[in-house]
Amino acid sequence: MAKKKKSWLNQHLNDGWVREAVKQGYRSRAAFKLEQLDKQDKLFKRGQLVVDLGAVPGGWSQYVARKLQGAGTVIAIDILPMADISGVEFVKGDFNDIEIQNSFADLLNQTKADIVISDMAPNISGVRDKDEAEFSDLFHSILVFIRNNLRPGGNLVVKGFEGVAAAELRHKCKRLFQTVRVRKPEASRDKSREHYLVAKGHLAQYGKQYDEID
Ligand SMILES: C[S@@+](CC[C@H](N)C(=O)[O-])C[C@H]1O[C@@H](n2cnc3c(N)ncnc32)[C@H](O)[C@@H]1O
Repeated sequence: MAKKKKSWLNQHLNDGWVREAVKQGYRSRAAFKLEQLDKQDKLFKRGQLVVDLGAVPGGWSQYVARKLQGAGTVIAIDILPMADISGVEFVKGDFNDIEIQNSFADLLNQTKADIVISDMAPNISGVRDKDEAEFSDLFHSILVFIRNNLRPGGNLVVKGFEGVAAAELRHKCKRLFQTVRVRKPEASRDKSREHYLVAKGHLAQYGKQYDEID
């Protein structure tokens, strides 16, 4: 086994969050990042319609389904297949595809989400300009998605990475939401450049704000 792979595996196996995830039956340690964001920002409550973009292997969806306790709806989307999770409806495909958006609209049945959560990231190449551009494209697609699918007053949790695109993300969110907070949950590895934006109070009743930032 290559040295780099071995050290990742050692780090993974020695990670307290990984052990805790196994103990609590979560499919990923990422569940604890969402739990910590939820504790801080009071994101989830029973009765909500929650959309999880890029959900596989399913830690975030599991956390939300447990929190809603059967009262509410969780819809998870991913290009990869996902093993069933009780209380979660799964749509397989790219969230940008028109067919996926249509089957998603059928599931929503004319309603809009109370909260959209996204833990997606582009494949990091290490080439800074390329990664920034891909991240910016991904974020733009998420904005198109929430314009169509997040209710006025609803909330967004989205993963970002330090850099120019992250500043752009924050700036755009500030135009579209009442409040925007940048969070680095304890379960997010210190050396990772990832952070999360928690944007509350979607302002875009008539799409006007979106026209201004396009
Ligand atoms: C970091 S993982 C999510 C982990 C998840 N939050 C958890 O707790 O288990 C990101 C996921 O986003 C998915 N993804 C990336 N781009 C996507 C797209 N355009 N449409 C749907 N899923 C996408 C990937 O397949 C990957 O499974």
